[in-house]
Amino acid sequence: MAESFEVSMAGEEKYYIPDPSYKEQAWTKDYGRAYKEFLADKEGFWERQAHHLEWFKKWDKVLEWNYPYAKWFVNAKLNITYNCLDRHVANHRRNKVALIWRGEEGEERIFTYKKLYHEVCRFANGLKKLGVVKGDRVCIYMPLVPEQVIAMLACARIGAVHSVVFGGFGVNALNMRINDAEAKIVITADVTIRRGKTIPLKTIVEEAIINAPSVEKVVVLSREVDQPVELHKEMEIDYYELMEGVPAECKPEVMDAEDPLFILYTSGSTGTPKGIVHTCGGYMVGTYYTTLNVFDLKDTDVYWCTADTGWITGHSYVVYGPFCVGATVVLAEAVPDYPDAGSYWKIIQDLGITIFYTAPTAIRMFMRVGDEWPDKYDLSSLRILGSVGEPLNPEAFEWYYRAIGKDRCPVVDTWWQTETGMQMITTMVGEPMRPGFAGKAIPGVVADVVDKQGTPVAPGNGGFLVIREPWPAMLRTVYKNDERYRTYWHTIPDCYTAGDLAVKGKDGNIMIIGRADDIIIMAGHNIGTAEVESALVSHQAVAEAAVIGKPDPLKGNLIKAFVILRVGFQPSEKLKSDLIYHVRMTIGPIAMPSEIEFMDKLPKTRSGKIMRRVLKAKEMGIDPGDVSTLEE
Ligand code: WTA
Repeated sequence: MAESFEVSMAGEEKYYIPDPSYKEQAWTKDYGRAYKEFLADKEGFWERQAHHLEWFKKWDKVLEWNYPYAKWFVNAKLNITYNCLDRHVANHRRNKVALIWRGEEGEERIFTYKKLYHEVCRFANGLKKLGVVKGDRVCIYMPLVPEQVIAMLACARIGAVHSVVFGGFGVNALNMRINDAEAKIVITADVTIRRGKTIPLKTIVEEAIINAPSVEKVVVLSREVDQPVELHKEMEIDYYELMEGVPAECKPEVMDAEDPLFILYTSGSTGTPKGIVHTCGGYMVGTYYTTLNVFDLKDTDVYWCTADTGWITGHSYVVYGPFCVGATVVLAEAVPDYPDAGSYWKIIQDLGITIFYTAPTAIRMFMRVGDEWPDKYDLSSLRILGSVGEPLNPEAFEWYYRAIGKDRCPVVDTWWQTETGMQMITTMVGEPMRPGFAGKAIPGVVADVVDKQGTPVAPGNGGFLVIREPWPAMLRTVYKNDERYRTYWHTIPDCYTAGDLAVKGKDGNIMIIGRADDIIIMAGHNIGTAEVESALVSHQAVAEAAVIGKPDPLKGNLIKAFVILRVGFQPSEKLKSDLIYHVRMTIGPIAMPSEIEFMDKLPKTRSGKIMRRVLKAKEMGIDPGDVSTLEE
């Protein structure tokens, strides 16, 4: 990692001030005061949030902190689905719409809280029939359909630990995740639908479980769009058959606050992904509090987060946070440009969306196709806009604010990670927004920008983004690899290192620059350079490979691979496309390199480590910085 750096910021300091009514109506009316209250009594702050939720037994202690291990709500008992479902079914929200699903062609399925509750209970009973018990791992590899959400909640209902794998991952990536978690059950669907085409999912599962000894059964949802799927009777069970004859009630398993709720894999700087472990109690409190306060969510809101449930954003802000709050959630199996660039705006108009949460890469795509698309639709229902996943550059902020928010809606640019479980930095609704800056640590979080030694950088300077205090939704460990967990807390003394570079403005706002490590954020997805490199090297023609993120105005970064061929193989365009296809099949379409360059040699340190930094500097035509460790 480099030392901290100075930054020169071009342009005026520009703020956008929302209408005062936002502040007057907000759950957090005064950011400054709320933050001070938090600092005065940190555990008391989180305890107050926890009291809004229902517990089978309350905690003996709010926090037990043995650096770097935290236990939140010690000895408390709960079930998160009780808060997501039972709590609402028991009150005025019983017949409130919990979930509206939209398909690409505009098909709709609607679940009230009561209906969702029964569906979750039934599927939970189905899982029990398969012998799934508390603590078992269940892998969910599904398209963005209500059954995916139901499967997650059903696992949580009976205390099984879900590991959702995004449907865009390929055979090897899925196999690796199933094996690492030792999943007993895989839940999948016959196909996923994208841009009018059906893409098989089950066939990928079939291959991925060949070398996965832990898997006992595969549950298959048939979407009945193509031919009915053939099931292999010994191993596969139909989703609906599994639920036949089971009761529509299922008692929630009593979970300890520190029992695991789920594992979610994220890219790391080695070839193997990290299984981030989140637990029941703290995660529930963290996602509940942020959903309510960061989106300022009211009972009348119609909330749409465009993320797939396969990512942390989907876990925290499609499923657990919004349902804990009792929101009406929209789930759309939609892409931004199909059937045309108005698809998102049509959904907003049709469903009267009030809170819209998406990613900068989508915003930049919309910006490029122009105002004529959003202008065709009535977007007046919108109240609050959100962004997540990568830096929202000032141009994209301004376009989003003007063309979508009509100079009216606050934009919450939320910084957080799979590891943090919940949103950590943003500009709270009603506060002045500064384009390019995510904002400040929310009440409940202590963030800072520091140098390598952990010393805060002077305002106006850049360094490493860190979190100084434990927070309830923090990861508890990396599954079966606690050493990788400890690294987060031991890279820079006395704090959690996020792995991002950031700049602290003189006004206290934080601007996120990008990753400081070997992770590429492409179109909001985290991709480890090492994972792509090992996929390339597994091709017979490749001797060595190095992968970098190449800045791209639309996707943030593109993947560029430098490849050394084995003796006997010749560079060719055909080989380039073979290699790209190979990565697609190994990791999945999300990790496909867009450029491949054949090399005779890669820049390396004397100890043999590839210096990707040098490749990147060369690619971008900039100074590579310190190259004293370079081999020659
Ligand atoms: C990046 C997604 C700038 C960052 C929730 C982080 C962001 C990584 C923002 C985590 C933001 C996320 N501004 N960068 N608002 N939000 N990031 O685990 O580099 O998929 O470390 O979690 O995305 O990605 P992850």
